Amino acid sequence: MLVFITAGLSTLFRIGTYLFLRVLPSTILRRALPVLYVLYLSSLYLTPTISAVSTTAVAHIEKIRLRVENGDVEEEKEEDTIVQKVPLRVRSDPLTTVLLSIPGPARLLNLVNLMINTLLFLFALDFVLYPVIDDAKDTVFTRVGAVYPDSAKLVVRYPLDAPNATENQVRILWRQASTAEESTWNAGPVLNLTAQDDWVDIARLDGLWPSTNYQYILADAEATPLPYPAEPIAFHTFPDPRIPTGSYFRFVASSCATPNFPYVPFHGRQIRGYDLLADYLWPRTPTPENATAVDAMNNASDNAVATKNGGKPPVEFMLFLGDFIYADVPMYFGDNVESYRRLYRRNYQSPSMRKVYEKLPMFHTYDDHEIINNYVGQGNDSTVPFKSADNAFRLYNANANFDPPEPDAHYYDFRYGDVAFFVMDTRRYRSDIHQGDEVSRTMLGERQLTALHDWLDRVNHTATFKFIVTSVPFTALWTYEAEVDSWNPYQYEKDALLTTMHSVKNVVLLSGDRHEFAVIKFNAEGHGHSLVEISTSPMSMFWVPLVRTLRQRSEKMVRRLVDVEKEVEGSIVTEAVEEEVPQEEVMKYVPEGNYKWSTFEVDTRDPQHPVARLELMADGRPAYELEIVGKSVDIRPPTKGVEAFVPKGLKGVLDKLGLRRGRWF
Ligand SMILES: *[C@@H]1O[C@H](CO)[C@@H](O)[C@H](O)[C@H]1NC(C)=O
Ligand SMILES: *[C@@H]1O[C@H](CO)[C@@H](O)[C@H](O)[C@H]1NC(C)=O
Ligand SMILES: *[C@@H]1O[C@H](CO)[C@@H](O)[C@H](O)[C@H]1NC(C)=O
Ligand SMILES: *[C@@H]1O[C@H](CO)[C@@H](O)[C@H](O)[C@H]1NC(C)=O
Ligand SMILES: *[C@@H]1O[C@H](CO)[C@@H](O)[C@H](O)[C@H]1NC(C)=O
Ligand SMILES: *[C@@H]1O[C@H](CO)[C@@H](O)[C@H](O)[C@H]1NC(C)=O
Repeated sequence: MLVFITAGLSTLFRIGTYLFLRVLPSTILRRALPVLYVLYLSSLYLTPTISAVSTTAVAHIEKIRLRVENGDVEEEKEEDTIVQKVPLRVRSDPLTTVLLSIPGPARLLNLVNLMINTLLFLFALDFVLYPVIDDAKDTVFTRVGAVYPDSAKLVVRYPLDAPNATENQVRILWRQASTAEESTWNAGPVLNLTAQDDWVDIARLDGLWPSTNYQYILADAEATPLPYPAEPIAFHTFPDPRIPTGSYFRFVASSCATPNFPYVPFHGRQIRGYDLLADYLWPRTPTPENATAVDAMNNASDNAVATKNGGKPPVEFMLFLGDFIYADVPMYFGDNVESYRRLYRRNYQSPSMRKVYEKLPMFHTYDDHEIINNYVGQGNDSTVPFKSADNAFRLYNANANFDPPEPDAHYYDFRYGDVAFFVMDTRRYRSDIHQGDEVSRTMLGERQLTALHDWLDRVNHTATFKFIVTSVPFTALWTYEAEVDSWNPYQYEKDALLTTMHSVKNVVLLSGDRHEFAVIKFNAEGHGHSLVEISTSPMSMFWVPLVRTLRQRSEKMVRRLVDVEKEVEGSIVTEAVEEEVPQEEVMKYVPEGNYKWSTFEVDTRDPQHPVARLELMADGRPAYELEIVGKSVDIRPPTKGVEAFVPKGLKGVLDKLGLRRGRWF
């Protein structure tokens, strides 16, 4: 009997470990695995060893007392009988023994089983404790954050390895990347890196030209170049938003990533999603057949739009929509600054991620796992564990985002040419849905809501596409946890926002969080503009097989007015036809894939036909494409507020080019 208990426990343990390391790193499994392992060991210990010879049935002689009924007389006598002691009917070929871990006769195989399970247990331990085992304390990195037409924010981490050191000064050396000859370096700002701030800080390079290539390296305070980065980091400034030529560029959006999941032994620093993204963005490995193509690609200047990437424009930035770290998956290391910082260092240490952030500006928002599962901030920064989480998020990700409309906030907006972005903070201000009445619940908080409305007013007639980023889905179609964690419980605020958004052309919502991909269409009442939400995740994390969590359409219907052309008495007239459609409906659903991102190719060069083409990549392969056809927007001259934004150098250039400012403002 014990043999089967051992086998059962072992099998359960193996399946559990597989699920935990490769499918879903859930807390339940994390807690169950050590228990199963200990039970398995105990059961194995208690199982009597089956002797090596017992495969062949052993016959021996036993004296058996027999009761013989001899007529009426009952007599007892002893007799020698041959008894065949058949061992438990266990099939004992090595494969079965190892697969089903049924203790067999061969000592070696039993040992193999014990070793397999112990190894699996060690793998699980390695996965859970990796952030502590490899705490990434000496990670050195730099990356580009927010990019403006005239400036850029740079993040630097450079710890000093001298014992007891508390500060290190690092100077930025930068130059315009000229194709002809290498110009000399300009001395840029000095960063004061301190142990107190985990050796990380940001610098801002000002006075740059729009749409221009730049490079920078790091040096010590005396301007002697430091060993890292070995090659200068290149970036180029965003175009001037007032030049009315339209935009043509790509960007990438995704969310949810954790190193080495699905787990592979000895790959603790790998984040495979970024490896795939780097290969997608910058195909390397030239073969003799395509060497010239790769060469030409590398030669092509970044400004030469549409000559690279098979006719596609360059990818200018990545939007990371939250769950950049998993503070509490598979294990929460506590409400202290170090346990949060460690997870950011770990990501920046990853060679996979390094390939991406050293070449591509990244802009961030956070979601619950940068803080804790399903975090509800209630506009109170003392809500535990916001302070610790916020400290690390600021240092590593948020400080290098675009300047927020009010100091200290994590929501912000930015532009790329005539395309505008608003990135929400859906964690810090949301109200507790278990308190207060439904009508007064807020997701964004009063100030952020005002900022968003102001922005919508502003971009209504100054931007062609308007991308609004929300870390959690705006749609209410996702079920399970999303019913409480998405916008769903904030129905009143959502409806009011939707009404405003439907009054604006070409709004696209971007979200993440669900570890699935979906495109949702929001139909508007009457003549309002419909809009789409594109939810993309995970960048490098689990997806749940079998259980589907997205409803196909909402119960709530809206009456949409569609213009139909009709012939009335020989002439064509348009007539508005009313049709009833679901308020929200799924256009596409792709749950499968551990590594997903969406690439948006935005083309507003033809003001009459702006388009945004979406390409979904799942596990390194194209999985879906969608063309979002925009409506033409009558771009009006920006209002006074925008003038303050003009790069100082640019005004001079426009004058030099004979373009008088009056034309632009
Ligand atoms: C570093 O600090 C420790 C304790 O504060 C001290 O014992 C040690 O001598 C210091 N080392 C150096 C190189 O200053
Ligand atoms: C660097 O920062 C530390 C801590 O904030 C401060 O004590 C020190 O004076 C600063 N050094 C410089 C050169 O600004
Ligand atoms: C060149 O070929 C290799 C191998 O087939 C491929 O991985 C790589 O993406 C190709 N590069 C380009 C630019 O086509
Ligand atoms: C790329 O540039 C190198 C040196 O600048 C040049 O030798 C080479 O011919 C160029 N390749 C192509 C395909 O233009
Ligand atoms: C904010 O949260 C802290 C900790 O939960 C609590 O002590 C404090 O009363 C809260 N403040 C407000 C204004 O609700
Ligand atoms: C956007 O402009 C349209 C008119 O073109 C107006 O009806 C609508 O209310 C505006 N929406 C916002 C949010 O400003």
